[in-house]
Formats: sequence, C-alpha cells, structure tokens
Amino acid sequence: MHLKEVKNVSVVGAGLMGYGIGLSYALGGFSVVLTDIDNSIIDHALNRIKVALDEFEGSGLITREVIEETLSVISTTTDLGRGVRDADFVIEAVSEDPEIKRRVFNQLGSLCPQRTIIASNTSSLLLSDFSAGAGREDKVVVTHWFNPPHIVPVVEVVKGKETSDETFDLTYTLLKKIRKVPVRVLKEIPGFLVNRIQAAMVREVWSLWEQGVASPEDIDLAVKGSFGFRLARIGPLLTADLGGLDVWYKAAGNLYKVIENSSTPPLLIKKKVEAGELGMKSGKGFFDYSQEEWSEIERKRDKEFLQLLKLYWAAES
Ligand SMILES: NC(=O)c1ccc[n+]([C@@H]2O[C@H](COP(=O)([O-])OP(=O)(O)OC[C@H]3O[C@@H](n4cnc5c(N)ncnc54)[C@H](O)[C@@H]3O)[C@@H](O)[C@H]2O)c1
Repeated sequence: MHLKEVKNVSVVGAGLMGYGIGLSYALGGFSVVLTDIDNSIIDHALNRIKVALDEFEGSGLITREVIEETLSVISTTTDLGRGVRDADFVIEAVSEDPEIKRRVFNQLGSLCPQRTIIASNTSSLLLSDFSAGAGREDKVVVTHWFNPPHIVPVVEVVKGKETSDETFDLTYTLLKKIRKVPVRVLKEIPGFLVNRIQAAMVREVWSLWEQGVASPEDIDLAVKGSFGFRLARIGPLLTADLGGLDVWYKAAGNLYKVIENSSTPPLLIKKKVEAGELGMKSGKGFFDYSQEEWSEIERKRDKEFLQLLKLYWAAES
C-alpha cells in the first residue's frame, strides 16, 4: 500500500491514549473512526477531543475553522466491525493486557480488509505475544505514542520480527505526514528506546530522593532546568559531542562506580504505593496538593507543552 492510498484511519480503544491518537490523525487530514466498548467512554473521548482542540486554538496552533473540519472527520462506534471495515490503517490502543489485545487482534483479522495495516500502541508487550490472530504478520507494527499523545511529538515505530520494510516505512511516513516525529526502533526490545532511557534516569532520581540528598522540589527543579532544558532541543548524544567526548568519558568513569544500579525499585516507593500515595489520582505522591491544585498543574503543563510544540512545528517549516 502507498501513502496516498491511506484515507481511513481507525483507532480501537478511545481511552487516555486512543482519543489523542485519533485527534492527531484527524488534525493530519485523515478520516478517523474511534471505537470503544461503551457509549459513555466514547462521549468522554469526544469531550476530551473538544477540550484539546480548544487548547490548541487558545495557543494559536490552529484556527476555529480547523476545529470544525477536524470534528467533522471524526466518527465513533461501539461496533468494532463498523469501526474497521473501511480502515486502511488501524491503531490498537486497548488496555495493556495481552489477553484483551489477543482477542482484539483475532477480531481485527476477520473484520479488517486484508490490505489493512494494524499498529499497536503497546508500551511493554511484544507484538508476537498477541498479534498472530490478525493473520498478517508482515502488516503489524508497534507505534508507541507518549501521553498526551496529541501534544508530545515523538512516536516510536517498532519493527516486529516479521514486520515488512514496506509496512515499517509506510507507518513512518504516515506519522511524518501528521506532523509527529517518528523514530525507528529497529529491534523489538522491552521498553523500546524511550522507556528504557527514562527508567535509567528515574532509578537514579528515586535513589537520590530515598537517600534524602535533596527535596522533591529541588530534584525536579535541577532536572528540568539543566539537562531537561537542553534535552527539549538537543539530544544526549549531540550534547556529549558538543561538550567533548573525552570530558563525558571521564565523568562516566567516575560516576558509574557510585550511581544507583539496583535491579528493583526502592522500598520507600513500594511503601508509598501500598499506602495509596499514588500521586494526582489519590491526591498525594511525592507532592501533596488539593484536587484544584492538581487540575491547575495539569492545565498549566498542557499549556506549556503546547508552546514547546509550537517550537517543534516552527522548526519544521
Ligand atoms: N497511559 C499512557 O501513558 C500510555 C503511554 C504509552 C502507551 N500506552 C499504551 O496504550 C494502550 C492504551 O492505554 P490507555 O492508557 O489509553 O488505557 P485506557 O484504559 O485509558 O484505555 C483503554 C481503552 O480500551 C478500551 N477497550 C478495552 N477493550 C476493548 C475492545 N475489545 N474494543 C474496544 N475498546 C476496548 C477500554 O474501554 C478503554 O477505554 C495500552 O497498550 C498502554 O500500554 C499508554
């Protein structure tokens, strides 16, 4: 299949990730069908889409006309067959449970046209764990989006053992067309690229917090105002080249001996989870805010992310 033959995109699972993925394809000019199991979930997804579009408009990224056009190309259903029967490209964004994904892929195998490419948004499973029932191992691929999916630019495109080059390349080009920043992950390894790198940082951050080296506020400040600031525009390998590999090599030699290398998360985090201190969803985590304050933090975060997205879009044009 060629890129110009892709017209209809279908997203299966309209939860936290699915609605934003669908929105991104609609903004990119595709006709999108969102499918979920329940009308109340669909209504919630549509509401989230409208809020997100208003935020895009408020940040000057799109106009009111674009909002109208985008909403006009999104349709919804609770009938999977209707949702995917005309789909050229399907994104599976159902719950991260291999049994549920396996069931959905089995259904997609008989409900989708044979030409349809099926991409999974799994963050921790291997395609081979659940995709065989779709009956098209060359046309399945992982596209791993990041929350909030309609804002964060990168999508990891992960090649499964039998994904064809044609599927891999078309998926990559399709994501570029909708103004995402696809990155090719050539081997299917747990955590792909981003979650592995992030886990390495989080291991050290949690350890520093557990040791009481700095307060949660100061740890967050230190990261976002230093390498976090740089990383928004310059990757870690270019950063090392700019600083000098000899300098970085020496620092790594000194620090690797002393930084955290444990293979299990810290006991203090386990205790927090057991005590129901889960962050925003339970009101308390590393920080302790009222519900209104959490909502305000989230609103401010999205507003600031949209300014960053503007930088990305400006750099493209
Ligand atoms: N949440 C994240 O930050 C994040 C980030 C990257 C990837 N992911 C991955 O994205 C996928 C979805 O995660 P989420 O956070 O959106 O979960 P979610 O629970 O918010 O949404 C999943 C949706 O799938 C629906 N669903 C379940 N079975 C279905 C079926 N048979 N047909 C149609 N819909 C069905 C559920 O009703 C639910 O609305 C998972 O694979 C997850 O690992 C999540």
